[in-house]
Amino acid sequence: MGEIKTFHDFYGNRVSLAVAGYPFSEHPKHVWVICRFHEQWLLTLHSRRGLEFPGGKVEKSEHADDAARREVEEETGAHIGRLFPIGQYRVDGRNESIIKNIYYAEIDRIELKNSYLETRGPRFISRLPDSIATDRRYSFLMKDRVLSESMKVISSEQFSR
Ligand code: GTP
Repeated sequence: MGEIKTFHDFYGNRVSLAVAGYPFSEHPKHVWVICRFHEQWLLTLHSRRGLEFPGGKVEKSEHADDAARREVEEETGAHIGRLFPIGQYRVDGRNESIIKNIYYAEIDRIELKNSYLETRGPRFISRLPDSIATDRRYSFLMKDRVLSESMKVISSEQFSR
């Protein structure tokens, strides 16, 4: 089993992160997808939380990989081509823990939709701000080391261009 990094999230909850394998659960209930469309990152504008990579909950009897494709489509209208596993993390909140798979996705095409559920739909950005942790436009999901550690993996792997 690879190394597990521990740190705190934006709200002070403890996070354990593995950037290889799925050490916390074979059936995680959440997914998070770092999406690339041509030379840009594809985010969604969540109605309450702000800009974030899309993701959400795995449905009963759904595979996490399928949930990743579904959530990205629902929140952005984007259809994923190649989907790569990056790792998994666990957040220990006061009352509950959640376990989330992290993916890197290459987007094939984007379809405009009338509704994007809890989000305002797709947003494209060439470069994420260095000051993302204090940038109020961005969701708390983007403000801990899960993002930076995942980005390190993505830029070091062959699938990044
Ligand atoms: P919705 O169904 O999206 O309204 O959310 P919920 O309130 O049911 O929360 P969910 O089960 O998605 O997550 C429970 C708690 O876990 C959240 O309130 C967050 O504090 C935390 N959480 C969820 N996802 C993440 C994440 O990706 N990173 C961090 N750091 N915390 C998370």
